Amino acid sequence: MTPAIEVRGLRREFRVRQGLFAPPKRVVAVDDVSFAVPAGSVLGVVGESGCGKSTLARLILGLLEPTAGEVAVDGQRLSAMDRRARARLIQPVFQDPFASLNPKRRVRDIVAMPLIAQGDISGAEITRRVAEALERVGLSVDQGTRYPAQLSGGQRQRVAIARALVLRPRIVVCDEPTSALDVSVQAQILNLLAELRRDLGLTYLFISHNLAVVEHIASEVAVMYLGRIVERAESETLFAAPRHPYTRALLASVLTPEPGLGVPDVGLGDIMPDPANIPPGCRFHPRCPVAIARCSTEAPRPATDAAGLVECHLA
Ligand SMILES: Nc1ncnc2c1ncn2[C@@H]1O[C@H](COP(=O)(O)OP(=O)(O)OP(=O)(O)O)[C@@H](O)[C@H]1O
Ligand code: SF4
Ligand SMILES: [Mg+2]
Repeated sequence: MTPAIEVRGLRREFRVRQGLFAPPKRVVAVDDVSFAVPAGSVLGVVGESGCGKSTLARLILGLLEPTAGEVAVDGQRLSAMDRRARARLIQPVFQDPFASLNPKRRVRDIVAMPLIAQGDISGAEITRRVAEALERVGLSVDQGTRYPAQLSGGQRQRVAIARALVLRPRIVVCDEPTSALDVSVQAQILNLLAELRRDLGLTYLFISHNLAVVEHIASEVAVMYLGRIVERAESETLFAAPRHPYTRALLASVLTPEPGLGVPDVGLGDIMPDPANIPPGCRFHPRCPVAIARCSTEAPRPATDAAGLVECHLA
């Protein structure tokens, strides 16, 4: 079967200035990443802040051009699709619904925008589809007449989900969809996303720095470190028997959650990974508790087997 999402050799560089007079440096945010997401499944992507999760999401949504490599959705090259066709196939839900919703528009008009942008859908059809999308996410027609500021954080995220669903896409890219919400509301939104996936047969790319959130929803998990996928496996396998030292450190961090902290405390000392200064050899070696001499000079290649993928000399 054609995968819902397929990326091959995907790479994205940025030029960044770290000081007013410093020469620009090259940051490789996504570095030669390849994977396929089967239709109807959920690929969870986890990793610390700055490892390239959102860059990967934006490349797959066509919001960023790759420096190299390719993205195909539903078997079609993203670069060969026009914007409207792409919008009918793949839609985003971002972290902060307040930033992604126009405060000057009513909820029903926000949800209608993707339909209006298609250009060939009648007013009556738009009204009907907006009502359908609001109902799907548990919002009333009355709430459709309000402005984003009049809603709670959870309700605003429901609006963003309704807007993502109104074109009936096959694929939804969720980038930290619950991270900006109160803990009590996070579970409601996660349950809603899981329910929508089941009822509508959607495929998700689901990004989170929180492994517990990903475990709840993902069929497969990819662990990112400084732009690379260092391990990928079925969710159950990854949580039961992590093979990469970084995955093990991330899993250990879930056992000591710091409420309100945006990034997990991975307990790997105070060397922070810097995408502008990627270490030679294995990029994880300065923090790796089990590194051997070879790790500081020779980069491990990804090894795949029936259980998935792992990129480590010791695996
Ligand atoms: N538009 C941009 N211009 C320059 N550098 C960028 C840009 N977007 C991302 N980067 C850099 O690329 C790297 C990866 O960023 P990205 O936002 O993809 O990480 P992330 O995993 O989503 O992090 P977070 O968990 O904080 O959201 C970072 O070093 C970031 O500074
Ligand atoms: S290759 Fe070496 S440094 Fe990298 S994760 Fe494996 S053991 Fe650690
Ligand atoms: Mg991000």
